[in-house]
Amino acid sequence: MRILVVYASADGSTAEIARRIAQRLRERGHEVSDQPVGSAGSLHDIDAIVLGSAVHDRQWLDEATNFVNTNRQAVSSRPFWTFSVGMPDALPKAVRKIARTEEDAIINQLGDLRPRGHQLFSGVVKPSQFPLASRIFLHLVGGRYGDFRDWPAIDAWALEIADQLDGAATMSDAAKTRLAKQDNDRESTGSAP
Ligand SMILES: Cc1cc2nc3c(=O)[nH]c(=O)nc-3n(C[C@H](O)[C@H](O)[C@H](O)COP(=O)(O)O)c2cc1C
Repeated sequence: MRILVVYASADGSTAEIARRIAQRLRERGHEVSDQPVGSAGSLHDIDAIVLGSAVHDRQWLDEATNFVNTNRQAVSSRPFWTFSVGMPDALPKAVRKIARTEEDAIINQLGDLRPRGHQLFSGVVKPSQFPLASRIFLHLVGGRYGDFRDWPAIDAWALEIADQLDGAATMSDAAKTRLAKQDNDRESTGSAP
């Protein structure tokens, strides 16, 4: 299958996660292109889409939302998956729960689009990314800086997508076989289609 993995990334960690997902899907035999949302061309020849965005201020980056709004029709008619990259693992447990509520808000913003799966990953959190007020806030709530990406979890999610796509291919192969058999049966009994 031809899969497009598109991403919106401010500081690069979402881009690296997207490229890792693309690589894992390639290893499963798919033809995969990975690109920033702004560079994605026509979706005409694409069979499935994986879209990811960094989370800033509890929302996807504008370019990810714009991609969805511009390509709503094309996205809704293909299997698609979404992921968000935020900082839940950089926060202490009590605050992390609040960060996880962002996921529902993000899915709601997709409106009537229903991804086959959505995953929230933690990304890279550096003091240089934040203005002073946010650094003070993070300090007060016990936030940490670092690279929180969980590569085994990212790989596992990519393989889940591959499994679902393979399942879809198998189903359609089974459907083709059934149709061919019905055709044969009709020919042998001489009944009209
Ligand atoms: C200005 C700013 C706002 C952020 N707001 C949120 C947020 O609301 N929720 C969250 O989970 N992470 C937030 N983060 C953390 C980023 O999502 C995280 O650093 C992520 O790895 C960024 O991805 P990127 O490197 O692809 O830009 C914010 C980061 C920045 C710089």
